[in-house]
Amino acid sequence: MRRPAQVGAVAPSSARLAAVLASVVPREGCPVVVELGPGTGAVSSVIAQRLPAGSRHIAVELDPAMADYLRYSRPGLEVINGDACELAALLAERGVPRVDAVISGLPWALFGRETQASILAQVTDVIGTAGAFTTFAYLHGMPLSTARRFRRTLRETFDEVLVSHTVWRNLPPAFGYICRRPAATLPGR
Ligand SMILES: C[S@@+](CC[C@H](N)C(=O)[O-])C[C@H]1O[C@@H](n2cnc3c(N)ncnc32)[C@H](O)[C@@H]1O
Repeated sequence: MRRPAQVGAVAPSSARLAAVLASVVPREGCPVVVELGPGTGAVSSVIAQRLPAGSRHIAVELDPAMADYLRYSRPGLEVINGDACELAALLAERGVPRVDAVISGLPWALFGRETQASILAQVTDVIGTAGAFTTFAYLHGMPLSTARRFRRTLRETFDEVLVSHTVWRNLPPAFGYICRRPAATLPGR
């Protein structure tokens, strides 16, 4: 409640919405998964349940108090108190050139066009052709031009953008975007 312009939510995501977002997390091998804007960790728990032993789960959270809380409450999580706008540099510092999935809880509607584009460009670089990206939007926000613009930007950025069913058991109801194959990596683009 103290930082509405940074958090952009009235409640943590429900387990059902988290399951949609985490559906791209590989259950085998030693995947590397990055979570952007984990907040209090509602989605982190569901990601962690899917991840096999030996995998890496990195979370980038802007709010220092939330980052501290995650470090304390989730010892398996690699918490970075940082800005998703610096994603490429944060991962490079940790020797991570590629990741299997990026799962975002970022409040996209609060970001300007350039910030959205910059974060998405860094996401597409790290997931490459084989990885996946998921994020969510609130149903009631869809009439807003910013929300429609974000959907358009996703469709321009990725070859495949799937829109999930509406998760009614979320406050407020929401749906997920499941995105694959950055358009910039496709032949002829
Ligand atoms: C809508 S909350 C989502 C929290 C959680 N993922 C969930 O679904 O319940 C957005 C989170 O993104 C964080 N955030 C906002 N801007 C950010 C940025 N530029 N970089 C990293 N985290 C950011 C906020 O501090 C907040 O924790």
